[in-house]
Amino acid sequence: MKLLITGAGGQLSNEWEKYAKEKSLEYVALGIEELDISNSEQVSDSLNTHSPDVIINCAAYTLVDKAEEEAKIADLINHEAVKDLATQCKRQGIKLVHYSTDYVFPGKKEDQVRFPNGYPEQYKTGPVNVYGATKRDGEKAIIDSGCDHLILRISWLCGAYGNNFVKTMMRLGTQRDELMVVNDQFGSPTFADNVVDWSYKLLQKEVLGTIHLSSSGITNWYEFSTSIFELTKISVKVTPVDSTSYKTIARRPSYSKLDTTKAEQLLGEPMIHWKEGLKNLIKELTT
Ligand SMILES: NC(=O)c1ccc[n+]([C@@H]2O[C@H](COP(=O)([O-])OP(=O)(O)OC[C@H]3O[C@@H](n4cnc5c(N)ncnc54)[C@H](OP(=O)(O)O)[C@@H]3O)[C@@H](O)[C@H]2O)c1
Repeated sequence: MKLLITGAGGQLSNEWEKYAKEKSLEYVALGIEELDISNSEQVSDSLNTHSPDVIINCAAYTLVDKAEEEAKIADLINHEAVKDLATQCKRQGIKLVHYSTDYVFPGKKEDQVRFPNGYPEQYKTGPVNVYGATKRDGEKAIIDSGCDHLILRISWLCGAYGNNFVKTMMRLGTQRDELMVVNDQFGSPTFADNVVDWSYKLLQKEVLGTIHLSSSGITNWYEFSTSIFELTKISVKVTPVDSTSYKTIARRPSYSKLDTTKAEQLLGEPMIHWKEGLKNLIKELTT
């Protein structure tokens, strides 16, 4: 099974490359300079040159706030390019593994009571920001294309590569005396190494469709930050604030936990708790 990984250089694609090397998988990883997924001809050339069995699409526009101002670019990469990728996959009989997000859901506070284990896969989407809308449209385009696909929705992604909340907190915690972190957005941090391992296992089991992959447990950004500082022994004062006092350009869902019952049944294993995943990541980052 030959894999073609797009978006090389990003958080998840780097983790995929590491995994593929460790497991001696046959793969090629292409960054935007070699394969711009919004360039249909480049996509077609890459498929002809590398003849993959599976595309692992890690390429995406992921700047949640900037997407509000760059809606067209975000749509081009997260929707139009994905539509073309899926169409070409359908034509050539290639399976498409694509990553999506918890931000496709409305994330209403009251949904935490309705869905204490998280949003189920089939719940109707309703993004509250441009990024989420472009990712939702990308999902729909893949399904409409009729290609064999695995859409994996993940949340609050953190890993050893690229930028993420854990690395930002570790940096700011050593630079500042005090930090303000929001305590009214709830979800589950998910770790790139786990995502890749689960993704590959689902691929091996030839699972198709839309699946949620996320750590077990639930937290908010404030509690998450204090856990990071406890584990790293960084001493910094952290003040919890609500979203109204910490304004961002894009609205964020108040609750975006993903229900992973389906993934657990398919994988035959429980999802790792986010505190365990965090411990593993901090160990990797600090040793
Ligand atoms: N990060 C999260 O918290 C999170 C949460 C839920 C879901 N996800 C999803 O998980 C997936 C992976 O996210 P990530 O955190 O690994 O993202 P990332 O670190 O931002 O990586 C995305 C990669 O795609 C590249 N890229 C952008 N436009 C491209 C194009 N037209 N053609 C080819 N490559 C392009 C980027 O290059 P440049 O850096 O040069 O732009 C970057 O290397 C995405 O689908 C994302 O929506 C992420």
